[in-house]
Amino acid sequence: MRSLAEIKEEIKDRIDLSQVVSKHAKLVKTSGGYKACCPLPGHSEKTPSFGIDTRKNLYYCYGCQRGGDVFKFLEEVEGLSFMEAVKELAEQLGIELPKASPQEAERSRQEKGLREQGLEALTRSSQFFHYLLMNPTSPGAKRALEYLRVDRGLSDEEIVKLQLGWAPESPDTLAQKLRSAGLLQVAEDAGLVRNYGGRHYDFFQDRLMIPIRDRRSRVIAFSGRTLKPVDTKNPKYKNSPESPFFKKKEILYGLDLAVPLMNEKRFVCLVEGYFDQWAFQRLGIPSVAVMGTALTPEHLRDLERFTKQMVLVLDADKAGVASTKRSLPQLLDAGWDTRVFSGLQGKDPDEWLKTQKHGADEVGRLLKSSPEGLEWLILQTVSEARAEQLGRVPTLQRVRDLWARGVDSTHKELLINQIAASVGLRAEELKAAFDEIGTPVKVARLDEDRYEPFKDHSRSKHSWDRDAEELLVWWLRHWDKLHPSSEAEWDQRVDLFVGSLAEGLVRSWSDEARRTNEKLKISFVSLPLEQSQLDPLLQQWLYRGLVSPEGFESVENADKALISFKELAYSLKKEKAHAEIARLEQQLRSRPNEEEALEVLSRIQRLRLSLEKRS
Ligand code: UTP
Ligand code: MN
Repeated sequence: MRSLAEIKEEIKDRIDLSQVVSKHAKLVKTSGGYKACCPLPGHSEKTPSFGIDTRKNLYYCYGCQRGGDVFKFLEEVEGLSFMEAVKELAEQLGIELPKASPQEAERSRQEKGLREQGLEALTRSSQFFHYLLMNPTSPGAKRALEYLRVDRGLSDEEIVKLQLGWAPESPDTLAQKLRSAGLLQVAEDAGLVRNYGGRHYDFFQDRLMIPIRDRRSRVIAFSGRTLKPVDTKNPKYKNSPESPFFKKKEILYGLDLAVPLMNEKRFVCLVEGYFDQWAFQRLGIPSVAVMGTALTPEHLRDLERFTKQMVLVLDADKAGVASTKRSLPQLLDAGWDTRVFSGLQGKDPDEWLKTQKHGADEVGRLLKSSPEGLEWLILQTVSEARAEQLGRVPTLQRVRDLWARGVDSTHKELLINQIAASVGLRAEELKAAFDEIGTPVKVARLDEDRYEPFKDHSRSKHSWDRDAEELLVWWLRHWDKLHPSSEAEWDQRVDLFVGSLAEGLVRSWSDEARRTNEKLKISFVSLPLEQSQLDPLLQQWLYRGLVSPEGFESVENADKALISFKELAYSLKKEKAHAEIARLEQQLRSRPNEEEALEVLSRIQRLRLSLEKRS
């Protein structure tokens, strides 16, 4: 039986990379292979800096400094997962994939079967809802179509393209349909129907249906908008529950439609509502909407393949401001060029776009000339602190933390004058104050003056430091509920934090637990290490976990605390694996000899497999 690594090697030996690339770019022959204008997403150019080495079967672009083998190419350009790329190429070359053990093969066949059936149930439901909307018979469906056309100004062409639909007013029309198609069980897994004591009900009833598509335009979930009065029993939007198909923190609504526009315009607007996403799309401006969550690292990773410039166009209400504030820090930390557009004149983006008369280019220019994210964030923070009648020092503490983030802001000098004026200082005094407040915070002073702990990620060493921090903070906050009960569990804990700032600390806890054989108590004053020896950044992690109630989501239930802990631990592991893969890929680029390259490739492949296992 051949291993996947062997098959991968055979594919790499036999496949003609230039042929695969030629479907995406026009190739010109060179001495060692070919060159082309870079076809990788997010990079467009007029003179070729993308080269293919036909002997090594590798590509590299000097412009965007990305490169790799045929698998990497398909992953980047066609959005395939590693296994999907292997399958596609194996099929092309007539190579049979290993069957693994019969049980494993059966299980993976079943899983794949279930996944495909689930997607089929979602697609069919979408088609069914769409049919009911376009051929309305019930009063609700008629009203919904009229609402879209008249009240919201959508063209029929758009309604078709977006595959909007209508979920009937009855309790189980869809369930019956899916039952007769033999898809009832998978429809339950996909959140389309609910099973109450053996009876199946439609999850969505009496709602305007918006299919949620993934990057490859497959329907993976729905959002249903009510057209009736909204109250606590009848929310405006009802979303599919999280499922194997639908993970909110990974999905950006509208991404599939926005990609070509992003490639062209080199920026993206972040909006909140579906109607807003459609309005920008209609005008030819790339936009995506988060699904009622904050922006996550997963979202950013998805978008960074296309652009690193974002205009936040969030509603002007309180929720919009809160959400802008929540999204900005991580954008700034990740080096995005951000702008905050606040010219909506109290309207939501959809309405605003309808009442203005400019074309895409002019609106694009207007959006991009909005204040920088850092500037907006600082001025917003100052004005909130004033409204709270906060004193000068705590105000400056808040602002200083933000200030430390935006290293590259071009407006810093201007900004410092503005901030200084708003707190009644001269610019030089303000700079001096920043310098003073900026000295490392001593633990003993932490609870002074409404101190807000800052997350100084500019000092982070790893892309996953933030995940390690979140995990540690969660653990500390639910210390008793999450206390390891065996040595093996302690070992796992230590493993999780290896390489992070907290490694030494977790090891010392683990040693202590082994020695005393009882539950450890923890508080800010009983830390087993000399506090002054702890890294100041780690001190802040501890502070967040043990003292600061800021953003503290309390969980009564031990199971829930554990589930979240596992989620966070999984994110950390995933991020670590991604970082390790990136490091190994870097090694590959330094042109190692064949033996080393093979070793590195198989390590990459093991990591990729471990990443795929969970989903
Ligand atoms: P909005 O209330 O701004 O919705 O919520 P909208 O899409 O702009 O709709 P209109 O213009 O008022 O008709 C913004 C987003 O927040 C999520 C949805 O994703 C929505 O698009 N949301 C809102 C929910 O998930 N549930 C809700 O009950 C409300
Ligand atoms: Mn709206």
